[in-house]
Amino acid sequence: MSITIQVSDLQQGYGRTIVLKDINLTVHNGEILGLIGPSGAGKTTLVSTIMGMLRPQKGNVTVLGQPMPNRQLLGKIGYMAQTDALYSALTARENLNFFGVMQGIRAKPLKKRISYAAGIVNLTADLDKFVKDYSGGMKRRLSLAIALVSNPELLILDEPTVGIDPELRQQIWQELHRIAQTGKTILLTTHVMEDAEQSDQLMMIRKGAAIAQGTPAQLIKDYHVKTVEDVFLKAGRNQDAHITND
Ligand SMILES: Nc1ncnc2c1ncn2[C@@H]1O[C@H](COP(=O)(O)OP(=O)(O)OP(=O)(O)O)[C@@H](O)[C@H]1O
Ligand SMILES: [Mg+2]
Repeated sequence: MSITIQVSDLQQGYGRTIVLKDINLTVHNGEILGLIGPSGAGKTTLVSTIMGMLRPQKGNVTVLGQPMPNRQLLGKIGYMAQTDALYSALTARENLNFFGVMQGIRAKPLKKRISYAAGIVNLTADLDKFVKDYSGGMKRRLSLAIALVSNPELLILDEPTVGIDPELRQQIWQELHRIAQTGKTILLTTHVMEDAEQSDQLMMIRKGAAIAQGTPAQLIKDYHVKTVEDVFLKAGRNQDAHITND
């Protein structure tokens, strides 16, 4: 298995503020890494750094073997931001088309990819509606479809399941597992324990520090608890008491 994402001794923040400290992370191709942590923990800051939108204050980030930031790699990354960045005066189909063209996909394959991506998020019947007439959840789903449209080597999804009902959430997870099985890598952030349980690897972050890392099963075993939620709570208490589990 080759390495898709490597983060080494990362310190990151904004101006003089430090948000993330001592972050080390390795994600192999074909893996789904779930980044879980409370609001303000630094999840978006970390994924933005991996995307190359923020330059590390200290340490290194490489994606597909290239140091980030790296413009050339953007075509290989499908990104769903936490805040939807859509053209509301265009239809959903026009949005998908625009982002597909930006990613360098030619017209004929793009048409197929748009049908595929819209199907995954149940937007096929709404493709020709204007985005300004979309609900919040529909916009989230369209953002996810845009991330999927180019069949990228790496998918980075910042809170992809917010505003998505349980049935569709399952359908999306099925597809994420299928995509990972084809050797693509997926990094997603979430607050939701169900998502954490579906991930191959977890990184729990709290107050800007990684407090626990591993597979869900291994973490449950190491922490002598029953659920990933309990791992998170116990690791959080350990962090407050400055205890580490190793
Ligand atoms: N552009 C910015 N300028 C200054 N501070 C920022 C900026 N973006 C985020 N922060 C701060 O960095 C910290 C981490 O924010 P971040 O958005 O990474 O958290 P998060 O884990 O993604 O939270 P949420 O679950 O609410 O999305 C917060 O204290 C936030 O106020
Ligand atoms: Mg965030």
